Amino acid sequence: TQYAVGVDLGGTNIVVAAMTLDGSKLFGLQSAPTLAAEGADAVIARLARMVNETIDATMQETGASRDAFIGVGVGAPGTVDRATGRVLKAPNLDWHNRELAHPMSQLTGLPVQIDNDANCATYGEWWLGAARGGVNVIGVTIGTGVGGGIIVDRKVYHGSSDAAGEIGHTTIDLNGRRCGCGNYGCLEAYASGSAIAGRAREALTNDESSMLRTMVDGDLTRITAAVVYEAAGQGDAVALEIVRDTARVLGAGLANLLNIFNPDVVVIAGGVTQAGDALFEPLRKEVRRRAFKSVSERCHIVPGTLPGTAGVVGAVAAFIAQSTGHPPA
Ligand code: BGC
Ligand code: NA
Ligand code: ZN
Repeated sequence: TQYAVGVDLGGTNIVVAAMTLDGSKLFGLQSAPTLAAEGADAVIARLARMVNETIDATMQETGASRDAFIGVGVGAPGTVDRATGRVLKAPNLDWHNRELAHPMSQLTGLPVQIDNDANCATYGEWWLGAARGGVNVIGVTIGTGVGGGIIVDRKVYHGSSDAAGEIGHTTIDLNGRRCGCGNYGCLEAYASGSAIAGRAREALTNDESSMLRTMVDGDLTRITAAVVYEAAGQGDAVALEIVRDTARVLGAGLANLLNIFNPDVVVIAGGVTQAGDALFEPLRKEVRRRAFKSVSERCHIVPGTLPGTAGVVGAVAAFIAQSTGHPPA
């Protein structure tokens, strides 16, 4: 049995696991905070340490030898150059033109392939999750940033310089909020986890009654998107309004993508899936209102079914696809 290691480098957390190449088993799953403020070298050293630990744990559990590990796939939260293994622009890490594959390969002794994190999560959901069997798939990941992945005819569409699928940085408001990428009015500036938390904090400056305040013991810095979803689930008006507005914005963004790509599945991954129907109902409604009927009728909009692991699963799949030239089995 052979294994590959998947790494999901997020703006906030890193997740690492090893998998058998047929995708049937996952080993040595672990996660740790990214701590991007410590700088790229520290983050890369942490990634490599985690990969080595995961390999050790997998060897212990399975009795495999180190030779059984064929390489590492890494999903990085920004645009990448797969051929040189560089991260070109990662707004939420503040990385610009950084070597990633090469130093990680040196620190682990294994071949390393990189791809965008959301391309990986989408590929993971297609391989083993909610988008299984899909032919044309759009994935949207909602976390620190808003990421996107596009699968056309069962293959990840990378575009001409590997940057296709930057759904989070499509414009949804011409004169809108400033985004971490430097632009204004990007989807990410409204629908990311950080944007949702920020909007809740703003809303609370004119509201004394929301349960959001008590949920964080009055310390508004502790508000996260997860807290907002929880309050929305309990019917809090401030939280519900934010979740509904996020759904409308995301719905408009998705309707554009539906009309362009005519996909059979849209999979939404990330912590946002905790919001459940409070998000998905208004989201589907907005998409139906805006996209062509023949397009929206054909498309299932579903939450991801690999919470926490879509990224690592897809990073393994991307490693297999890039190193063999064939999609994973
Ligand atoms: C980046 C994407 C990434 C997404 C999620 C965005 O800000 O531009 O490349 O996929 O965040 O991490
Ligand atoms: Na992408
Ligand atoms: Zn942007």
